[in-house]
Parts: sequence; structure tokens; C-alpha cells
Amino acid sequence: MRKYLLIVASLALIGTAAFAEGRLEIFSWWAGDEGPALDALIDLYAAEYPDVEVINATVTGGSGVNARAVLKTRMLGGDPPDSFQVHAGQELIGTWVAAKRMEDLSSLFQEQGWYDAFPPGLIDLIQTDTGTWSVPVNVHRSNVMWFIPANLEKWGVSAPNNWDEFVAICPTLQAAGVTPMVMGENWTQQHVWESVALATLGADDYNRLWTAELPFTDPKAEAIWDTFGKIVDCSNDDASGLSWQQATDQLVAGEAAFNIMGDWAAGYMTTTLDLNPGTDYSWQASPGTDGTFIMLADSFGLPIGAHNREEAIHWLELLGSKHGQDVFNPLKGSISPRLDSDLSLYDAYGQSAAADYQSDVIVGSLVHGAVAKEAFMSEFATVMEIFLGSHNSQQAANAAQAIATQVSLGN
Ligand code: GAL
Repeated sequence: MRKYLLIVASLALIGTAAFAEGRLEIFSWWAGDEGPALDALIDLYAAEYPDVEVINATVTGGSGVNARAVLKTRMLGGDPPDSFQVHAGQELIGTWVAAKRMEDLSSLFQEQGWYDAFPPGLIDLIQTDTGTWSVPVNVHRSNVMWFIPANLEKWGVSAPNNWDEFVAICPTLQAAGVTPMVMGENWTQQHVWESVALATLGADDYNRLWTAELPFTDPKAEAIWDTFGKIVDCSNDDASGLSWQQATDQLVAGEAAFNIMGDWAAGYMTTTLDLNPGTDYSWQASPGTDGTFIMLADSFGLPIGAHNREEAIHWLELLGSKHGQDVFNPLKGSISPRLDSDLSLYDAYGQSAAADYQSDVIVGSLVHGAVAKEAFMSEFATVMEIFLGSHNSQQAANAAQAIATQVSLGN
């Protein structure tokens, strides 16, 4: 009898331990429409670790506008998720690594062979002298212009190769009752802005903005706002109330001719709306940026004090694996940065993005965390508001420079 009780007691203990360890909370902004790729990855994890309960904590809001604030509260309050989405680059390094809140993943990278599996340019974005800080799950492209070929044909216009061409066809489209360029809420306008910045400055000067070698008040940089203002004049009045998906919906519904959005829009149109890339919808580099690729990468890290550390490490192993990435990315609209990725699994859009990622000049995204610390990123939303209110390029340029100076951009 005693022996029986002991066995029951130890089983209960094992049970508690297994329950306590058998959880994994991952945190991201991939909610609702943005969920299918993450869900597929979670299914893979669940198949490999059936005893682990996965808590998929999401905070809606494109580009993490809302999730970042919630994450900050949790991290500073000592309740980190086990693993969280963060953009490779300054959003990771300038925030959580600088605050010493992340575990160094160097030994995991070594063990998994990731230093050879990922391109050096991407490793640079997640590494400092003291460690390697997150696992990239994808590469997205920011400077993509989307359109519906059948609609352009109907309206008698072709996709513009530069902003002058766009401004020239704008009246034709407006006369037909069509929004030439559909935009959404503030961050999506900044998203268009970074494409215009690249088109205006070229890759070298674009990069020099983020290292503070080119002031925002330089006439070349101020000119970005002049062009941007003309594009805003050709855009929809209800932009501030639209999510990026709702802006894409207007494009698909034939209410708008063009949209500039990252290639999660391809994921949305293909995976969620069931459209065919290349026929139902098409794309080209945003005007004036052909041959350059504004990249960003979603990654996940391991915060110090994660409640379920071991489960989180297994999650990271899956995220970085060839198999995990080739399940996730074809649904997401992104590509796998792994050099051994199986391109036959990707659709026409994914294959074209992968080819461009190989051959193009690569620069980093502002809005999606690659090039500027978060303090600048979040304040840039205010600069955008100021400009949308005044359409005054000089005022916007001055405001951007004031913030750059205040946060010591580039240091
Ligand atoms: C980006 C993110 C993408 C996608 C997009 C829209 O910042 O890197 O994966 O989620 O926001 O929310």
C-alpha cells in the first residue's frame, strides 16, 4: 500500500513537472488575416512536441504598432513571453539587446550550423561583438508596388517605372473615379515614404540617412517630401482609417490602381484571398527602385527570464530550420533567407523575390526595424502627421532632423 502511494505521489510530481514545463508562449502581431503562416509553424511544433501547450499570444496591428507597446510593458514588468517577434536590426539591437534583456544565442547558432546557413548580411543585423541575439524566420521586401493587370488594361495605363510617370497618369485614373495610390494608416504611409526616399536618394545616400552622414535637412533629403506630397495628393482620403489589408482590399476590388506594401501583401492575396500571383495580381519594384531591395526580417529571440526556456529553444530550432522556414514562408509571402531553401516550394512571387534578393543591392527598412532605433521609428510617425497636416517639406525635414539629433541616430 505504501509502495502504491509512493508511486502515485511520484507520478503526480512528474505530472506537475511535465505540466509546468509543457508550455510555450510566443508573442507576435500575426493575428487574424496575418495568422496562417504562423499557424502552420505552430502545427509543426505541436506535431514534434505534442505534450507542449502552445499559447499563441498576438496583438493585432500591422508592423507591430500595438504589439511593441504591450511587449514593452511585459518585458519591463518582468513577465516576458517565452519568445517574441522582433525585427532583425536596430529594433532588436537598439532596444532589447541594449537593455540586456536577451539571451545570447551564439551556441545555438553554432550547434545548428546557422552561421553558414544564413547570409552574412543578415547575420550582421542580429549580431553584436558580444553575441547573436535572435533567429530570423524570413526576409520580406518593403519596396514592392502591387497592381491588378486586368484593371490597368481596362483603365488604359501601365505600371509606372518612376514617380514622374506615376504623377503623369494620376489625373487619368482620378478622372475614371479610381484612387491612383491607395494607402492606409500612418505606418503604411511611412512605408511608402521609405520607397520614395530610396528612389530619390539612391542606395548610398539612403544608407547615409541612417548613419547620420546625410542630414534630413539636406536639399536632397528634403526633396523626398516634395515627391511624397504629390503621391499623397493622388491617394485616398480615408487612408488614416484603413489597415494595410483594407488598403489591399481596395486594390483588389478595383477601387485603386496601385499599392505599395511589403510582400506580406502577396501572402494575403495568395493565401487569404486565393488569388494567383502573376495573373490575378502582379507587382514590380516601387517606382525608381528597380535593382534595389529594401529588406526586413522577422525574427524571434529568447528573453532573459523566459518561463519556459527549453520549449522556447525548441521553438527557435524549428524557426531556423530549413523545413520550418519552407513551410512558413510560402504562406507568408516572404522568402527564407537560408541559402539552402527549396525554391520549388514557392510561388511565382516568392521565386522572383528570391532571385532579386540574390542579385539586387540590399538596403534596410526604416518602418520595419532594420535601420533605425525604435525611438526614431516611433517618433517618425509624428513627423508623418506633421507633414500630412501641412504638406510643408521643409517643416517635415526639420522635424525629422530634430528627432535624429535627439535620439543620436546612427549611434
Ligand atoms: C511587418 C512584419 C511582417 C508583417 C507586416 C504587417 O513589420 O515584418 O511580417 O507582419 O509587418 O503587419
